[in-house]
Amino acid sequence: MRCSNVADYREAARCFLPDFAWQYLEGGAEDQLTMADNRAAFQRIGFTPRVLVDVDAVDTRVMWGTTSGTTTAAWPAVVGPTGLNGLYRPHAEETLARAAHARGLPFALSTASTSLIEDVRRATDGELWLQLYVQQDRRIAENMMARARANGFTTLLLTVDTPVTGQRDHYARTGFTLPLKWTPRLLWDVATHPRWVAAVGRHGVPQLVNIAKSAGLGRGIEEQAAALSRQMDRSIAWADLAWLRRHWPGRLLVKGVQSATDALHASKHEVDGVVLSNHGGRQLDGAPSAMDVLAEAAPLVRRDFDLFIDGGVRRGSDIVKAVALGARGVLLGRAPLYGLAGGGRAGVDHVLALLENELQICLRLLGCPRIDALDTSWLRRPQAARALEEVDA
Ligand SMILES: Cc1cc2nc3c(=O)[nH]c(=O)nc-3n(C[C@H](O)[C@H](O)[C@H](O)COP(=O)(O)O)c2cc1C
Repeated sequence: MRCSNVADYREAARCFLPDFAWQYLEGGAEDQLTMADNRAAFQRIGFTPRVLVDVDAVDTRVMWGTTSGTTTAAWPAVVGPTGLNGLYRPHAEETLARAAHARGLPFALSTASTSLIEDVRRATDGELWLQLYVQQDRRIAENMMARARANGFTTLLLTVDTPVTGQRDHYARTGFTLPLKWTPRLLWDVATHPRWVAAVGRHGVPQLVNIAKSAGLGRGIEEQAAALSRQMDRSIAWADLAWLRRHWPGRLLVKGVQSATDALHASKHEVDGVVLSNHGGRQLDGAPSAMDVLAEAAPLVRRDFDLFIDGGVRRGSDIVKAVALGARGVLLGRAPLYGLAGGGRAGVDHVLALLENELQICLRLLGCPRIDALDTSWLRRPQAARALEEVDA
């Protein structure tokens, strides 16, 4: 099948992957209400186009950052951090990083990555960000930050929405555990996906090599997974940002902020911005969509405070809506992974090309040749959202 949008790659990924890996990629928490709302939030917003504007050339470039360093991107997106990418293709993170760089975007590597910081750096000259989960033994995070700094990573994303893993019912349904337990169901699942076995499965279960290296662990995935989840530091609090700052002088964004109040709070700490995110609906079911939080947060924070959003970005027009509502950019979660699973490197390239092309078409049809000219006047939104903003003004 020739894929013509992200939804087509989603279908290609679903066919390629065994069910346990597909559900890991796709599944949300509990009843997946938040996950559904991430898409619905974009669908609730429409556009107010302007006509007879010269849109022969469109400029989608953006610059982010303040005193801790600046970043440019060809369009306002980052290939976001996702763990266990080696389930979809070998050398997954190197592939994602190279593809992001080829389209002028940064790539964010997860703490739970299946490739090393050092190997991803060797794979690309592009801009790299590190996503950090903090373990009880803070030396693990300190070591990981030191490794990222030594390898020229520019930006740290501190993920704060994961004191525990959300309740994902599909783990029990598909039998996904780390290490994998070879039940008849799982054996059947894998045996009926020979293309995946040939490309991925024959290399064995991917390892969480990054955390293992910083924690001084061996190659056992069980020990690595335990280090990642059971030993997660649940006591981390706002005051700990000062500790982080001492170890990370570069750009620092707090990822997983889910209210305008917390975004405002973060803007009063020594951080460069936040990612409004509910982790793709994988954590607290019932958490708001980042777009709804953005509408409330953007009027409150100072202009040089970077607001990113993620969750449900599947079209170039979603990126336009986010920027018009006050986001500096978006993180792409599942979309590039659909490309990776469905088509390897060519699939990721194509997903990113499709999104960039859709973004440009949207700007031209809107009559807005410069992405930095977008604001809420380009949107049509439900009455309630507009009323809220007027109260804030
Ligand atoms: C398979 C998968 C793994 C993820 N792993 C991480 C992770 O290791 N660290 C993190 O901060 N966020 C992680 N996320 C959340 C993403 O960074 C992002 O917030 C989310 O995927 C955005 O929603 P979207 O997938 O609808 O675009 C993961 C998401 C997915 C789908």
